[in-house]
Amino acid sequence: MRGIEFGAEMTGKRSGSSDEGSVHVPVLGGPVVEIFREALASGEGWIVDGTVGLGGHAALVLEALPAASVLGFDQDPDALEIARRNLSRFGARARVRAGRLSDLSRLARKEAIGPIAGILLDLGVSSMQLDRPDRGFSFREDGPLDMRMDPTRDRTAAQIVNQWDESDLADLLYYEGGETRARVVARAIVEARRRAPFLRTAALVDTIVGALGASAHAGKIHPATRVFQALRRGVNEEGEELLAGLASAEHLLAEGGRLAVIAFHSGEDREVKRFLADGAREGRFKLLTRKPIEASEAERRTNPRSRSAKLRAGERVRSGGANGGGA
Ligand SMILES: C[S@@+](CC[C@H](N)C(=O)[O-])C[C@H]1O[C@@H](n2cnc3c(N)ncnc32)[C@H](O)[C@@H]1O
Repeated sequence: MRGIEFGAEMTGKRSGSSDEGSVHVPVLGGPVVEIFREALASGEGWIVDGTVGLGGHAALVLEALPAASVLGFDQDPDALEIARRNLSRFGARARVRAGRLSDLSRLARKEAIGPIAGILLDLGVSSMQLDRPDRGFSFREDGPLDMRMDPTRDRTAAQIVNQWDESDLADLLYYEGGETRARVVARAIVEARRRAPFLRTAALVDTIVGALGASAHAGKIHPATRVFQALRRGVNEEGEELLAGLASAEHLLAEGGRLAVIAFHSGEDREVKRFLADGAREGRFKLLTRKPIEASEAERRTNPRSRSAKLRAGERVRSGGANGGGA
């Protein structure tokens, strides 16, 4: 089974939320800037942020590295609106576009920005998404069972919960959420949905807590954490999206360009580690992080979300294609 780690988003101790939900404290911002600083040492260049979110990392890069411009993508229209606002002060140095990691190569090439000196992937959900109950990501407040980052996707959490057969549901909870009692929870969900379909997060939380019984309250994390994480990953096809995003990054990066990936899920971190290690063995990447960079004690204290973050980075050794030719 893939091990799963949970950040503060899953324990409810989130930071960076405001009344507007428009603040997301970027995790490991300092190390990300330093990784890109060297890639830009020889002059101006573009950093592609594949998960621009609210623009937190993008703003840090634009502030710290005057030679950088940022092309940011996100699949969430609410995030894009906030990112545009948060990055407007940088003028033409910041472009924000709608798009998914699985479409990153095509979309970035369409922008015709020339050599790409850096690519950032900061995976998972943003504080804003968790803070808006109407998006359905949160088990702490009632909302529709949705969980789509991109509202044009067909599949919602309600569809998985109400339509998948019991064994597929159990597999999802086990492999994508690390729920060791996945079969018990899946059975309880299937029994409950015979009486009435699940429409709201609160009803699902009640069923999960009921199925897990006394053990539900034994751990440090909320009992619905693993199930909600699994559903979110299933709805948004996060595993597939990551693999596609990594492959795009390799094609897009100019020689000497740098890829930085922040993962909050140990299965994802393993994929990133494997991707960079294979790339290093085959001469496509130079490893910049033998061990992942993790948040300092100070950052962990002030931003609990950083506690499970792992940052890995690599430098493109051979030019990857249309945008190649030197960063
Ligand atoms: C952790 S947040 C990024 C926060 C951002 N670095 C900041 O500092 O504001 C992750 C973002 O990635 C987006 N996202 C997740 N998977 C994606 C995908 N496959 N394609 C595009 N965006 C994605 C989410 O919508 C979310 O806004």
